[in-house]
Amino acid sequence: MKKYKIAVIPGDGVGVEVINEGLKILNTIKEIHGGIDFEFKTFPWSCEYYLKTGKMMPKDGIKILSDFEAIYLGAVGFPGVPDHISLWGLLLPIRKEFDQYVNLRPVKLLKGIKGPLRTEKIDFVVVRENVEGEYSGTGGRLYQGTENEVAIQTAVFTRKGTERVMRYAFELAMKRNKNLISTTKSNALNYGMVFWDDIFNNLKNDYPEVETRTMHVDALSGYFLLHPENIDVVVASNLFGDILTDLGSAMQGSIGIAPGANINPEKKYPSMFEPVHGSAPDVAGKGIANPIGAIWTASMMLDHLGETDSAKLIMKALEKVTEEGIYLTKDVGGNSKTHEVGDAVNNKIKELA
Ligand code: NAI
Ligand code: MG
Repeated sequence: MKKYKIAVIPGDGVGVEVINEGLKILNTIKEIHGGIDFEFKTFPWSCEYYLKTGKMMPKDGIKILSDFEAIYLGAVGFPGVPDHISLWGLLLPIRKEFDQYVNLRPVKLLKGIKGPLRTEKIDFVVVRENVEGEYSGTGGRLYQGTENEVAIQTAVFTRKGTERVMRYAFELAMKRNKNLISTTKSNALNYGMVFWDDIFNNLKNDYPEVETRTMHVDALSGYFLLHPENIDVVVASNLFGDILTDLGSAMQGSIGIAPGANINPEKKYPSMFEPVHGSAPDVAGKGIANPIGAIWTASMMLDHLGETDSAKLIMKALEKVTEEGIYLTKDVGGNSKTHEVGDAVNNKIKELA
């Protein structure tokens, strides 16, 4: 019996609602598989926790989490707590301390889901650099509130950091359709992004089978909409990847569908799995949040843990449910509740197993 210790951080708003559905699915997987066990430990770290304690997580939060194989997180964010507090108090420290330098975000239009674009051929993966670049947290503010006020935010690109995320993207392209786009803006960002391009061009030599392209992020945004069928793998810096993947999630029909993984490929530290969406205060508490992103994310977690068959089973069931179109939440044109979609996927898993 293989046992996985998983830290669960539901967070705020719909984060809690969708993680419940994901856990339901994981428990079913455990039941039907028979050979694996999950030990879930839930942590209340969130904005609500912050309002009570002044911190998003306890001082030794990272140490506590280091004991787990994976972290399954919903979303954090709550009106009244500034977004930079929730991000810098929980998500970013976890990503950085655990060296989760790859943020993997598949963009795929599931069967039966109506996307906003004419084409249905949307199936690619964005590999986003996740620990440095524009989100390195380097900079400062001087003379606050005066007319001499200055704010500096510096992007930091290191050779090691850039190379390893690009290598991951090349390796992924090798396993897929051997096509990789590098996202740049080296016309305007004449240090950081020219460096980014140099590293990419050097790495190409190691992967002669991969067809590559370098595109400016603005042009690539348009390309996402006009020719998504030509995209296989995209590698991007932290900021560019962040923006492109929100665009990608919209292309999937709803941000509620998009999954995400923060990965430490060497498995030296736990990786963190979280849907792309936030806490959605506008729909929280109504029981109508789409759980598909969180369920797909759970599948990515199993894949990372090496349970590929179970990961595939979840995806197969998920896509059967979307294809049938009976149980869908409002954001994708249905009128089912969150738990009804979760139950439908759960039953489908049992049926297909
Ligand atoms: P958001 O993703 O929470 O919501 C954007 C829109 O998508 C809203 O209209 C919302 O109703 C809808 N939506 C999101 N998830 C959905 C789901 N599962 N089902 C159906 N509809 C869904 O982004 P927003 O509004 O920019 O941020 C809200 C809060 O979430 C903020 O406090 C923000 O900081 C936080 N946030 C947290 C993230 C995280 O924890 N990883 C990521 C993004 C935002
Ligand atoms: Mg984002």
